[in-house]
Amino acid sequence: LRQKYIQAIADAADESALEELRVAAVGKKGEVSLKMRELGKMTPEERQVAGPALNALKDEINSALSAKKSALADAALDERLRTEWLDVTLPGRPERRGTIHPISQVSDEISAIFADMGFAVAEGPQIETDWYNFDALNIPPHHPARQEFDTFYMHRDAGDERPPHVLRTHTSPVQIRSMEKTGAPIRVIAPGRVYRSDYDQTHTPMFHQVEGLAIDRDISMANLKWVLEEFCRAFFEVDQVELRFRASHFPFTEPSAEVDLRCSWQGGTLKVGEGDDWMEILGSGMVHPKVLAAAGVNPDEWQGFAFGLGIDRLTMLKYGIPDLRAFFDSDLRWLRHYGFAA
Ligand code: PHE
Repeated sequence: LRQKYIQAIADAADESALEELRVAAVGKKGEVSLKMRELGKMTPEERQVAGPALNALKDEINSALSAKKSALADAALDERLRTEWLDVTLPGRPERRGTIHPISQVSDEISAIFADMGFAVAEGPQIETDWYNFDALNIPPHHPARQEFDTFYMHRDAGDERPPHVLRTHTSPVQIRSMEKTGAPIRVIAPGRVYRSDYDQTHTPMFHQVEGLAIDRDISMANLKWVLEEFCRAFFEVDQVELRFRASHFPFTEPSAEVDLRCSWQGGTLKVGEGDDWMEILGSGMVHPKVLAAAGVNPDEWQGFAFGLGIDRLTMLKYGIPDLRAFFDSDLRWLRHYGFAA
């Protein structure tokens, strides 16, 4: 028996072969177990010889079984380690990084420049009430200026007579919201999306403005001119820019001016500060007393300027991009061409 089992155990190929051997040898009906049961029929003398021999054999088989079992487990582990290893020194798979959209980058830059001049950032909703977008800005119902904005109106249920909400046509409603919140004096800018039903090379139905508002006891147009020139020098990183103030009209400012920046088109790209072209970049003026009053600020005590600057136009100028619409096509080849994507 010893011959038979010790060798077989050493040769067992896997755990189930080993288990079969255990049952056959030392299981309840195993060969060794049956032999041990026969001890009772032996004479005391026979039993004295056979008993210890069988016990020793049983112990030897059991320890051979457990030795083989752990040898098999070690071998299985070695095999897993051999086949499942991971080469941590391999280079990673290349991944394309996302980038910040040029309009967002420029918007952040603009905010940083005005922050340096002491302007805080304010925000307002893109879906605006008729009051904030128009009335409070001295544009009553049926005022001709309402037509000029190509407004997108939100639908009201039939029978609901209240004026519809609008997609804000400019960031100027944030002037009202900010003054209501903090009163005067105040110095804020409000960057954000605005909407007008308009579409060509320099107009998209959604575009971006930064509103500027500075109200104090004796702020004048001269302060406005300095702030805008200082801003342009910082933004375009040049010593001199040339701005042209054109008398204009907005219901919410008096007097009003539109401001153009000298530029030129050279071989399909836009150059700032030279040439004979002018790009309109903003509307501005001294805040109308009625607007101050609508926002709860006393016009006999306070005055100041406001401006609304086109972020998209500034981005076109800064990067020499001739067509605004490409900004919103999400065409990765275009974004990469201008270095806006990896
Ligand atoms: N809201 C005006 C526009 O969008 C710009 C503007 C802002 C003009 C502030 C004057 C003062 O055209």
